[in-house]
Amino acid sequence: MGRLEGKAAIVTGGGRGIGRGISLVLAGEGADIAILDLDLENANRTAAEIGGLGRRAIVVRTDVSDPSSAESGVAAAIEALGRVDILVNNAGVAGANVAASKLTLDDWDACYRVNLRAIWTMSSALIPHFKANGGGKIVNISSIAGRVGGVGLAHYGASKAGAISVTQSLAAELGPSNINVNAVCPGLLWTDMWRGLEAAVGGDAAPEAVEQRRFFETYLRSNCPLRREQFPEDIGHAVAFLVSEQARNITGQALNVDGGIRMN
Ligand SMILES: NC(=O)c1ccc[n+]([C@@H]2O[C@H](COP(=O)([O-])OP(=O)(O)OC[C@H]3O[C@@H](n4cnc5c(N)ncnc54)[C@H](O)[C@@H]3O)[C@@H](O)[C@H]2O)c1
Repeated sequence: MGRLEGKAAIVTGGGRGIGRGISLVLAGEGADIAILDLDLENANRTAAEIGGLGRRAIVVRTDVSDPSSAESGVAAAIEALGRVDILVNNAGVAGANVAASKLTLDDWDACYRVNLRAIWTMSSALIPHFKANGGGKIVNISSIAGRVGGVGLAHYGASKAGAISVTQSLAAELGPSNINVNAVCPGLLWTDMWRGLEAAVGGDAAPEAVEQRRFFETYLRSNCPLRREQFPEDIGHAVAFLVSEQARNITGQALNVDGGIRMN
């Protein structure tokens, strides 16, 4: 018997990458899953995989950066699954990897809207339901880029640092309502997010793309004590623990899953 038998979870951006890994691990622990994503093709594929694990999965096309879309996505998930016990705010965008002086307002706003503001709008939409049910769990996917800024990270890093801060504020506010709120900070995972950065510099075959992969590997070799990249299921296992009964007294925390790159 899994740790999440009888529970239902919303995973934003659950169609691919880290969100897919989280969805599959939570389903493996017994949870039904609502994938709220912009990309229906990947979301439906992941939902079929969850079905193969014997769990229910539904897909709701949702743009988490749009508060009314977030609200109707939450309502559709509650309606379809009967209840929701867990919210994983995973959907995120990287924006262009450029110096702060070259950033566009669009890049800045996209990181703010998707990576930070959506945590608040999605949580706000679900909190009344959690309170009516006597509690709930929220996990926000931040990043080690939220722990310390760096070149090319002004917009992304700020949104991810904000994700840790809003986690703490929500945890303080919602603890008395038996709602645990925590964050997970992934390290380096070679997902489409990184591949998207490649596309922005000219596609897979471009020297810049090769450079990107080389940077990824070199960074891990020289900065990661465990000397290996992380995988979506690593993040999924951390989330599964934080939303389980074993973590009932953990709230307001941000857990790095990064092979030891950041030790704060
Ligand atoms: N890949 C990494 O190395 C890494 C490291 C640290 C943190 N993260 C964070 O982990 C999360 C997932 O990253 P990933 O690498 O799997 O990215 P990804 O680009 O592979 O997947 C992101 C998912 O979010 C969805 N999405 C994007 N914008 C959305 C929106 N407005 N509304 C609904 N869905 C939306 C996409 O359709 C996609 O399914 C993000 O928050 C990211 O910032 C990633």
